[in-house]
Amino acid sequence: MPRALVTGITGQDGSYLAELLLEKGYEVHGVIRRASTFNTERIDHLYQGPEVEHRRLVLHYGDLNDASSLNRILRTVDPGEIYNLGAQSHVKVSFDTPEYTGEVTGLGSTRLLEAVRELRIRPKIYQASSSEMFGKVAEVPQCETTPFYPRSPYGIAKVYAYWMTVNYREAYGLYAVNGILFNHESPRRGETFVSRKITRAAGRIVHGLQEKLFLGNLDAKRDWGYAKDYVDAMWRMLQQPEPEDYVIASGVTHTVREFCDLAFRLAGMPLEWRGDGFDEKGFDARSGRPVIEIDPRYLRPTEVDLLLGDATKAREKLGWTPATSFDELVRLMIENDLRLAADEADLKHARDRRALNVR
Ligand code: NAP
Ligand code: GDD
Repeated sequence: MPRALVTGITGQDGSYLAELLLEKGYEVHGVIRRASTFNTERIDHLYQGPEVEHRRLVLHYGDLNDASSLNRILRTVDPGEIYNLGAQSHVKVSFDTPEYTGEVTGLGSTRLLEAVRELRIRPKIYQASSSEMFGKVAEVPQCETTPFYPRSPYGIAKVYAYWMTVNYREAYGLYAVNGILFNHESPRRGETFVSRKITRAAGRIVHGLQEKLFLGNLDAKRDWGYAKDYVDAMWRMLQQPEPEDYVIASGVTHTVREFCDLAFRLAGMPLEWRGDGFDEKGFDARSGRPVIEIDPRYLRPTEVDLLLGDATKAREKLGWTPATSFDELVRLMIENDLRLAADEADLKHARDRRALNVR
């Protein structure tokens, strides 16, 4: 039975990848961090306790900042494939924690590669590289040969990890590849990334649970795809005869403002925009009430203005194309978040009624 190790298994991509690998008959091992709150929500539906005979999902405590834990896990699991998805993955937060981001997102991959080299095992290794590495883009669209110009501590850490992966491939003959993935989202996306922040807020505003949504740069353009489609590309990269790096993207770009427009329209609250610069506001077109405002705290010291990927190589060599369009992606997310908001509203009404009865 094929055996894979996934770092970052509790994250958005880790959860979809674990599902995919289990479907394909793999034994899946995941690295999880100790936390004071539960952090396994995205994979709880896959969990199998130690009492389950021949269980195919096994979780190990470890940390990308702790080389000895990585060594121990690799020695015990001896995986045929490693997917290094663990990272401090929030770009804005990386400006607040540049050193920590460098440790986890950059050096973390070196710890993993070095553990593989020292143990003399020969798994295939996937490194979660990012379109954020293109930063202040040198060309449009961006492909595998586009030079990097990262614009955040996160992007810089990813560039370092990218080159370490290339170096271990060339220096030691490891099957190690970079997937340069453009933004990908889903109903499981962390709630501080802009897509989910918008769909969560749209659901809550429509259900009267929240007044306004505060955002930063509405003009930023991103090439957004669906995370479930993108983890399939990761797997395909490790099934090739030769290790190579690939761009994975939808080939379509939209502004944050356009994302808001579609999300709020699908939630039943079409928007109208008025004002300029920091004074620009999004209004509920029916009631005339402002529902979106700019808060400069969400701006980044240096921004990536435009990302647009060219995934021709992935199409030709991996047979990969994105199955889900931008409109379908936003619909999936908004349907999920309208449901969550409806449940939250029901709970709130029940609590309010109880409080009235007590009085
Ligand atoms: P995510 O939801 O933020 O998940 C990150 C994962 O990394 C979580 O499981 C997290 O664990 C884990 N992690 C954080 N610090 C760690 C540490 N010190 N040691 C071990 N694990 C640690 O990210 P994602 O969206 O799934 O992205 C997966 C990977 O692809 C990341 O490397 C990201 O940088 C990269 N990437 C993402 C995109 C995208 O658009 N989503 C695009 C390009 C590249 P906890 O759950 O305990 O926090
Ligand atoms: N998060 C956030 N919050 N972003 C905002 C906001 C806000 O309130 N308002 C505007 N934005 C803009 C950001 O400035 C950025 O230009 C864009 O929305 C997307 O921001 P994020 O969703 O935080 O994603 P990201 O592009 O910075 O980074 C994501 O994609 C990378 C791939 O390009 C992350 O998933 C990275 O881990 C990933 O590598």
